[in-house]
Amino acid sequence: MSTSSLPALPASDRPDVAARLRDALLAASFTADGLLELLSAPAYAALARSEIVPALRATRGDTPLETLVRLFLLQQPVPHARVEGVLPVDACLDGGWLVLADGGEVAATVDVRPYGGPGGEDWFIVSDLGCAVGGAGGIGSRGREADAAVVLGVGGASTTLAGITVRRPVSAALDLGTGSGIQALHAAQHATRVTATDLNPRALHITALTLALSGAPAADLREGSLFEPVRDDEAYDLIVSNPPFVISPGPRLTYRDGGMGGDDLCRTLVQQAGERLTEGGFAQFLANWQHVEGEDWQDRLRSWVPGGCDAWIVQREVQDVTQYAELWLRDAGDHRDDVAEYQARYDAWLDEFEARKVRAVGFGWITLRRTDAAEPSVTVEEWPHPVEQPLGDTIRAHFDRVDYLRAHDDAALLEHHFKLAAEIVQEQVGLPGAEDPEHVVLRQHRGMRRATKVDTVGAGFAGVCDGSLSAGRILDAIAQLVGDDPVLLRDRTPAQIRLLVEQGFLDPAE
Ligand SMILES: C[S@@+](CC[C@H](N)C(=O)[O-])C[C@H]1O[C@@H](n2cnc3c(N)ncnc32)[C@H](O)[C@@H]1O
Repeated sequence: MSTSSLPALPASDRPDVAARLRDALLAASFTADGLLELLSAPAYAALARSEIVPALRATRGDTPLETLVRLFLLQQPVPHARVEGVLPVDACLDGGWLVLADGGEVAATVDVRPYGGPGGEDWFIVSDLGCAVGGAGGIGSRGREADAAVVLGVGGASTTLAGITVRRPVSAALDLGTGSGIQALHAAQHATRVTATDLNPRALHITALTLALSGAPAADLREGSLFEPVRDDEAYDLIVSNPPFVISPGPRLTYRDGGMGGDDLCRTLVQQAGERLTEGGFAQFLANWQHVEGEDWQDRLRSWVPGGCDAWIVQREVQDVTQYAELWLRDAGDHRDDVAEYQARYDAWLDEFEARKVRAVGFGWITLRRTDAAEPSVTVEEWPHPVEQPLGDTIRAHFDRVDYLRAHDDAALLEHHFKLAAEIVQEQVGLPGAEDPEHVVLRQHRGMRRATKVDTVGAGFAGVCDGSLSAGRILDAIAQLVGDDPVLLRDRTPAQIRLLVEQGFLDPAE
């Protein structure tokens, strides 16, 4: 793969320079908090939309922080003399982080963006100039075709995956398609060994820089497609991937176009992950999938799940093919091109969908857990509503509940004790002034923030679940109260209890 049109990267074998640069960045408060304070919330938010004018206006002074923001975030050349007091300039020139520009100025060779870790860590994400946020549009806007090898910084998808990842101490984690290294950086906090792979060697180089500059341990970096870089005898406790999931008419940008037809890259990734997991290990992916005419999208996804794995697949969004094509045309900056060229690209995209009978594209999260259970649990659902982030603990708890439900038949459920989960409220929905509600809804304020309709028995049952009485005893009491047959009630309620446990409204008491 050629990287010829992109600037040379800083040396990845100079940890001494990265360490000195890190110290200098921290000393100047070049951190997520420092930036917010300097720029104010609107300019900070504008920067996340690739709009730099508000930040340029906020950095007209000459403090060390303003100098660093101009240099590394806004990619403005800065006078050598001004940088001297802020950075170890000679070491940065020597290590390739800076280059000499015209008129006695220096310029950054990469974008360096402060990124706050979940425990308040001050991290830095390195990416190609002009590509820190918002796709390759920045490159396109400079009037040339984006180089296929550009390495992007952190986008919404990156932070979504980081947020849903199950974080527990593990020995081995794999970040497949590491890009800027953000997932590897997170994994380095709870995995003894982190392997990061990418088809693009430039991404591996940039991942090494991100880790070094963030003060994280180095990862085992391997070049190759999908699981090719993983040896047959290797297995991981955690696999994460924010893959190049875009369904496009042809490979163009490595960071997003998988180079396989349709959603084949995501399918292959999911299908091949099972045998790379240790028992109990999790694999978590973001993915796009096709909604094909005459096919149930949920069946399509179920068919991807490898044997021996439980799966939880959540569709977060669906776009029709026109919205989808427009989104990714804009991502590449194509809307700024010649009109005829833009229309030809758009047409090619729709041709591709038409040929595949694709009506819409789903986006969502796929989590696998290897259990080798005889009857794996596969849940495929649509949940487009806001959720609590980070969600990793909720995802892990889902699989704990799957284990519990698999191990307890209806009779065992009735013997068990349950507790109402934290922060659940009951809402009654009906016409104003009506004596009885039309229906009762239980709503979570945590995790998936689900809402579920229950009948009066379900609501009454959930309301008294404090762990002290068994489910069967509670149902007997309700039967007595409402004059119902206790045997019938014991017969028909376990299905509802099962659902409330599965969806996290009830927790099995210890
Ligand atoms: C959407 S980016 C994700 C980057 C980063 N992990 C994140 O979460 O922001 C996808 C990455 O996958 C890499 N990639 C593309 N095709 C690949 C393949 N066949 N096998 C492995 N990695 C691939 C790209 O080079 C890019 O770095």
